[in-house]
Amino acid sequence: MLGPVILAASRSDKMRRFISAAPGTKQVVDRFIAGESVDDVVPVIRDAAAAGLEVTLDVVGEDITTPEQAAAARDAYLELVGRLEELGLGVRAEMSVKLSMFGQALENGHELALANVRPVVEAAAAIGTTVTLDAEDHTTLDSMFAIHEELRKDFPQTGCVIQSYLFRTEADARRLAAAGSRVRLVKGAYKEPASVAYQSKPEIDKAYVRILKTLMQGEGYPMIGSHDPRLIAIGQELARQAGRKLDEYEFQMLYGIRSEEHIRLAAEGHRMRVYTAYGTDWYGYFMRRLAEKPANLLFFGRSVLTK
Ligand code: FDA
Repeated sequence: MLGPVILAASRSDKMRRFISAAPGTKQVVDRFIAGESVDDVVPVIRDAAAAGLEVTLDVVGEDITTPEQAAAARDAYLELVGRLEELGLGVRAEMSVKLSMFGQALENGHELALANVRPVVEAAAAIGTTVTLDAEDHTTLDSMFAIHEELRKDFPQTGCVIQSYLFRTEADARRLAAAGSRVRLVKGAYKEPASVAYQSKPEIDKAYVRILKTLMQGEGYPMIGSHDPRLIAIGQELARQAGRKLDEYEFQMLYGIRSEEHIRLAAEGHRMRVYTAYGTDWYGYFMRRLAEKPANLLFFGRSVLTK
């Protein structure tokens, strides 16, 4: 019940100002956000690699309003690529991007986002790593998939995300389960209407299993983005049934969530990639994490009240 209210608040400037300034917020934000700058995140990447984990880096920020901010987002990712090159981890440290941050919602946004993201994808390829395009709300997806297709002409390893809560996703998965594609399947984190998305957890979970089956039986590289123990076990079983080896799919989870499970899966020989977000514009990302688990809200409330 609380999830949709928190997701609505994630779009409110007033709430953004209130929550960002509240004492105690930082303590809770730190659980999900690995740091404010690229300097903060480099040791986190090193520690993850030392623990046998892989990472995908996300520079947070999505509600931009000017082309200059979109260019700054591109530059922040290019700075990150420079640091990843020094680390030399190749595809063990890849990047995730939200096209909204690259200008997708501005005037001529589709072209602007493509023009801003292309140099990042190109720079990533030059150091032997890759980029995955995150999935945002359903109104942005036709543009995201078109940009994904365009980028794949030159950089076929570019990945994308699909969301099991959307009715459209089963058809998207069939199209994307082709040789060379890299597809992360998640449940979906935005507030979507009943006209386009399942609203109940059992329906979203059942769709997740159907879609994962399509990806596993297809020819692409499935990336299982979930912390749900049931879906992780089903993912392992579907991979086995499809005759996939351990390096022919991977698990992905978010930084700060079920960290012991990251280690357990990696120790079992699975590829385990931790989605590691950093930066100062954390509000939208943070609110989605609160919405996913009401207990986080209680923790947040307590932290604010005791400061
Ligand atoms: P579910 O929500 O059922 O959670 C299963 C269990 O995991 C919970 O019982 C709890 O123990 C733990 N858990 C989950 N979320 C938690 C939280 N916030 N705090 C504490 N514990 C939590 N979405 C999207 O729309 N577009 C995208 O591009 C992405 N990208 C993405 C990348 C990766 C690597 C992951 C793991 C997830 C995303 N998501 C996303 C978010 C995704 O859509 C979804 O909201 C979350 O993963 C939560 O769903 P679960 O599958 O974990 O199941």
